[in-house]
Amino acid sequence: MDRLVVRPCTEPLSGTVVVSGMTKNAGLKQMAASLLAAGTSTLSNMTKVADLATMIELLTYIGVKVEKVDDTTFTLDSSGNLQPEAPYELVSKMRASINVLSPLLARVGQARVSLPGGDNIGVRKLDMHFKALEKMGATFDLDHGFIDARADKLVGARIVLEFPSVGATENILTAAVLAKGTTVIENAAREPEIIDLCTFLTKMGANIEGVGTSTLHIEGVDELWPTSHKIVGDRIEAGTLLMACGIVGGEITLEGVNISEIEMVVLKLGDMGMKVSPTRDGIWAMASTPLRAVDISTLPFPGFATDYMPMVVALLSTCEGTSIVTENIYDNRFGFTEELVRMGADIRTEGRHCVIRGVPNLSGAEVRANDVRAGASLALAGLIAKGETIVHDTLHVRRGYHDLAKSLNKLGADVTWEN
Ligand code: EPU
Repeated sequence: MDRLVVRPCTEPLSGTVVVSGMTKNAGLKQMAASLLAAGTSTLSNMTKVADLATMIELLTYIGVKVEKVDDTTFTLDSSGNLQPEAPYELVSKMRASINVLSPLLARVGQARVSLPGGDNIGVRKLDMHFKALEKMGATFDLDHGFIDARADKLVGARIVLEFPSVGATENILTAAVLAKGTTVIENAAREPEIIDLCTFLTKMGANIEGVGTSTLHIEGVDELWPTSHKIVGDRIEAGTLLMACGIVGGEITLEGVNISEIEMVVLKLGDMGMKVSPTRDGIWAMASTPLRAVDISTLPFPGFATDYMPMVVALLSTCEGTSIVTENIYDNRFGFTEELVRMGADIRTEGRHCVIRGVPNLSGAEVRANDVRAGASLALAGLIAKGETIVHDTLHVRRGYHDLAKSLNKLGADVTWEN
């Protein structure tokens, strides 16, 4: 099943989708954090995505017993002996592997983690992780592509992040909860996935103040205990489906996601002429096409997330007027635009900027997904392109979406997986 075949929608989208749990950017982090407490933690709402299998493989390698309770619930038992190592073949497949670094340092005082290397969307450094953990008492040696980390004792420190990195905030948090003394993180990331991790850690007995703000105060405790937690809904899947509605037109309802987590997307879709409002358990949206062009800059939360950018560029390609999209998080995330151009979009990129002139029609083509959101963007464009669109390399899509075809088809689209 490595191709997505997308046929044009003949009717506006309509229907309801229950949004998946945010496995890739939240659940995997809680899986890694479960290493902090010996015993069995339970995580639910863990929708099956490809990266989940990679994290299970990694934790099993480390010595955790992972068991499936039902389709979306797993138990993780980390009471056995732990081998504090994350090998290259797993880290290179999935950057969230780096999240085992601090829990291993906190639990067993050492970690040997392969450096992940390059990525399809740009340089993704880890310098802030290392600098902060060094301030907390860890030492790092680079050896044959591996980081050898040691910390006899982690101690609290005041960390000022030069950028609100999601991953660095997570690694500092999971080091600080068991460190001796107080850690303060200034300019911490505020993404809903960080709040979800803090909720999980707090249930484990951690003492964290300022959750949801850019200053986190963590008072280290002596011990954490295993807990149960339901993972937050996937705001990126929700945004993807809202943008599908913007491209095709129609009226849809999403359940299992909180509108406050995607406020900037809702504001921008509103500026484009779409109606979006909260419901008791989610979001309602209506769009009459074509929508209007708007300018967008990606920023850390609560700004417009970079992970929506490829999908919104597909949407803007079908809007009336010219839009400018500026990508501020990654230095090479516009690769997918060349594939959209092959489908008839009028897009010009220049450094961090991308100028999109809306066109009345797109045409189906064979295209390649070079990352998870690029694949979603191309599939959305296919929903209104004339003829068939075939998206290759969908392994990337499966890394983040449980079943994008199924979600779109629930709203009336015609998308199938093929070999
Ligand atoms: N950065 C540094 N030094 C560091 C850490 C980050 O320079 O020590 C830079 C990176 O190079 C990048 C920027 O800061 O340019 C953002 O990195 P961040 O650490 O915030 O991102 P991440 O933790 O590596 C997570 C998500 C990404 C999402 C970003 C930003 C996971 C597994 N990944 O990555 O998700 O784009 O936060 O919100 O949680 C996706 O879902 O498509 C995706 C790429």
